[in-house]
Amino acid sequence: MNQKPRLFSGMQPSADSLQIGNYVGALVQWRNMQATHDAIFCVVDLHALTVPQDPALLRTQIRRTAAQYIAAGIDPSVSTLFVQSHVPAHAELAWVLNTITGFGEASRMTQFKDKASRGGTDAASLGLFAYPTLMAADILLYDTNDVPVGDDQKQHVELTRDLANRFNTRFGQTFVVPEPVILPEGARIYDLQNPIAKMSKSAISDSGVVWLLDEPAATAKKIRSAVTDAGREVRFDRGEKPGVSNLLTILSSFGGSSITALEETYVGRGYGDLKKDVAEAVVSVFEPIRSRALELLDDPGELDRILGVNADRANEIAEDTLATVYDRVGLLPRRR
Ligand code: TYM
Repeated sequence: MNQKPRLFSGMQPSADSLQIGNYVGALVQWRNMQATHDAIFCVVDLHALTVPQDPALLRTQIRRTAAQYIAAGIDPSVSTLFVQSHVPAHAELAWVLNTITGFGEASRMTQFKDKASRGGTDAASLGLFAYPTLMAADILLYDTNDVPVGDDQKQHVELTRDLANRFNTRFGQTFVVPEPVILPEGARIYDLQNPIAKMSKSAISDSGVVWLLDEPAATAKKIRSAVTDAGREVRFDRGEKPGVSNLLTILSSFGGSSITALEETYVGRGYGDLKKDVAEAVVSVFEPIRSRALELLDDPGELDRILGVNADRANEIAEDTLATVYDRVGLLPRRR
């Protein structure tokens, strides 16, 4: 019997490449937690549909996201790595959860408010509004204990906990109540050109976004062009020095030294040295991941085979949970 705690997490295939925040905030934790957890990793393609996508591009982005998980160290023979739409129970459980979620409660989700305000209320779809309940379904289908995510997803995991407790109270013990796992450092990486905004795959301009699959020279150039702050002192201070603080966070995440130790290293040295070191550290980690991901993408048939086998395993677990949920809320069992 598997005694390890269950982990579930996912990323949206909403761009051609993951960005440095996805890597530092989530993927590094995922890789490390595989040893201690029964881990399930999902490419959440249904979530990507909550904002407009080009169908042909989306299809390639789904494979590219899966390839980057594997290239960064997710082992699909140890962990379960699958595509969300291959397991219909996600959308089905999301429907049930929608029925126990308050309209006001969903309206308070900051990610919805941010995304909806960008395009106006008519551009914001019902799907975008229901994004958090689909995410709750992802997590709750698998009796998940731990959900490693970046800081921006904390509110969604809190909602998931509330929904699990609410369902359990109304219909009897059904769901495990999950915990968010958020790193103390690196949980929020900021845009290099606008270091008070979170770095995002869907940023309007990509000049401040460092992509995992970019050419090493392009990555180094972007980092060297990062916006820094007034003064010359390399010091962590989010209020006064957001640009430098962001670079220190990145360097600490890639190089392993604490931010305090880094501040000491840079006494008497300037921003140029810091940027050069950040660029080197990031490129040396990303370069092999990039090559491996491109290799995997050369054989889409094999990638699809891996995703298929893993979806079968996910379906087994998810269908069981969904059957219990349908039974608890009073639906008739389906004839087999
Ligand atoms: P997505 O694709 O937007 O982000 C994937 C992961 O990357 C983290 N992240 C960041 N961390 C630090 N700094 C940043 N600038 C940064 N940008 C993104 C996110 O916190 C996330 O962990 N809603 C999820 C996808 C999802 C999910 C789930 C996650 C759907 N269902 C179930 C966990 C469990 C998301 O934000 O994807």
